[in-house]
Amino acid sequence: MHFASDNAGPVAPEIFRALEAANEGHAVAYGADAATQALEKKMQALFEAPDARMFLVASGTATNVLALATLTRPWETIYCHAQSHISVSECNAPEFYTAGAKLTLVEGPSGKIDPAALDAALAATSTDQLPDTRKGPVSLTQVTDLGAVYSIDEIRAVTSVAAARGCACHMDGARFANALVALGCSPADMTWRAGIDALSFGGTKNGLMGAEAVLFFDPSKAYDFEHRRRRGAHLLSKQRFLAAQYEAYLSGDLWLELAAKANRAGALLAEAVRSIGGAQLLHPADANMLFVEWPAEVDTRLRKAGAVFYGQGAAENGRCRARLVTNWATRDADIQRFREVACG
Ligand SMILES: Cc1ncc(COP(=O)(O)O)c(C=O)c1O
Repeated sequence: MHFASDNAGPVAPEIFRALEAANEGHAVAYGADAATQALEKKMQALFEAPDARMFLVASGTATNVLALATLTRPWETIYCHAQSHISVSECNAPEFYTAGAKLTLVEGPSGKIDPAALDAALAATSTDQLPDTRKGPVSLTQVTDLGAVYSIDEIRAVTSVAAARGCACHMDGARFANALVALGCSPADMTWRAGIDALSFGGTKNGLMGAEAVLFFDPSKAYDFEHRRRRGAHLLSKQRFLAAQYEAYLSGDLWLELAAKANRAGALLAEAVRSIGGAQLLHPADANMLFVEWPAEVDTRLRKAGAVFYGQGAAENGRCRARLVTNWATRDADIQRFREVACG
């Protein structure tokens, strides 16, 4: 009963086989190898964006902060949701990598930026006083940090507000595949066609072993990004092993199959939560991440039985909040046992 994080799941066996196969002979380092070059072409085809540029790094935080640093000047501010990973969980790395740009937090339901609140925040950012902070990019998270999935129209509503004020848009797609499967749309529809300029295209939470990609739909950003990646100590020498993982991930739709398994487990778990007396889901469980509130005794029973999950703050009035996350390897039997234990 391991529902702590999709990062806690195993690496998919297909990915291990691809790593083994990539371990043949020599390949030039730092991304100049044939596998990385071929992967960029594959990504361009997948995203229907022949000019897009792709870069590989080893962590989701690196994708976010390097992409954002490329889009942001130090005297600008990045607009993001108050609950976003870049604001809450990256130890101010966005501020650090942008050499001091700040974050402007915007509210909205279930981790989604409210377009009207964004417009108000943008309008409140001065455009005429030299000493004032300037507008920078907007960053939204898909799947959101609270487990919901933006519809295409909801993404457009945010990006069109940004575009009207001349701001670029970044998507933190740490769970990109989970969102794509939930919406059943194409990668292009969920990104550049919906107004996204730069994407953090996660893989590690969905079966890869520490491989993450950044895509710029505007290739003129590539030069800047490459220098920032090296300067920021995120240019890995043995990139063929990152490329081999994504190559296997995107072949035969493995990535979508893995995400579909994680989302299906998420839906089953949500159903189990609904059957627990006194439990409630705090946000729409659109993909593989659930936020729940339940009686403290349910929490205790589950933990005693060995269930692993993160709590969200201290118990209050006999009730606890928790986050539950599924992944491609979550077993139905574990969800069944979770239901039995939780229901007492
Ligand atoms: C939405 C989101 N973005 C980015 C990250 C960062 O990923 P990493 O821990 O690989 O740096 C996470 C990880 O939990 C995440 O949930």
